[in-house]
Amino acid sequence: MFDFKIAASDKSELYHQLHDAADALTAGEPDPIANMANVAALLWEGLPDLNWAGFYRAVDGELVLGPFQGRPACIRIPLGKGVCGTAAETLEPQCVEDVNAFPGHIACDSASASELVVPIVHDGRLIGVLDLDSPRTGRFDAEDLEGCVKVVRMLAPRLAGATKATASL
Ligand code: SME
Repeated sequence: MFDFKIAASDKSELYHQLHDAADALTAGEPDPIANMANVAALLWEGLPDLNWAGFYRAVDGELVLGPFQGRPACIRIPLGKGVCGTAAETLEPQCVEDVNAFPGHIACDSASASELVVPIVHDGRLIGVLDLDSPRTGRFDAEDLEGCVKVVRMLAPRLAGATKATASL
C-alpha cells in the first residue's frame, strides 16, 4: 500500500514532497501507463483546487488521452491545438491564467478556468504532456510551473516506455 502523507506549509515544500513521492512511486517500474496512473492519482490528491489531472500521450503524431483523474475528457488532440497541443508542438510549458482567453482552448469540462500543461520529453522525443486543470482562474503560478517541470523532468524516462530492444520481444 502507498500511503503518502502530503502536508506542506508552502508551495515549494508541497512540490518537494510530491516530487519525492512521485519518485518513490515510479522507481524501478518500467510500465509508462502504470506510472502515469499513479502520478495522476498522486497529483490529484496532493494539489488543491483541481478538476482534472492527468496525461496525454504522443501517439503517431497526435496526443491521445492517457491515465487521469477527473471527468471524462477529449480523447485525441492534434499537435498545435488547444493548450495541450500547443505545449506538445512548441515543447514549452503553458501556464494559462484564463482558458477562455486562450485561442483554441479545448473545453473538455466547462468547469475548467485555468490550466497548466508541461511537455514530457525524453532523449529528444516527445512522450506526451502532463495536464492540470482548475476551476479557479489564475490557479497556477510560477511555483506550480517550476514544481511540475521538475517532477516531469525526473519522471520522463519512466514515462517513455520500452526501449527498442525490449519493444521487439
Ligand atoms: N483543455 C485542454 C484539453 C484537455 S482537457 O483540459 C483534459 C486543451 O485545451 O488542450
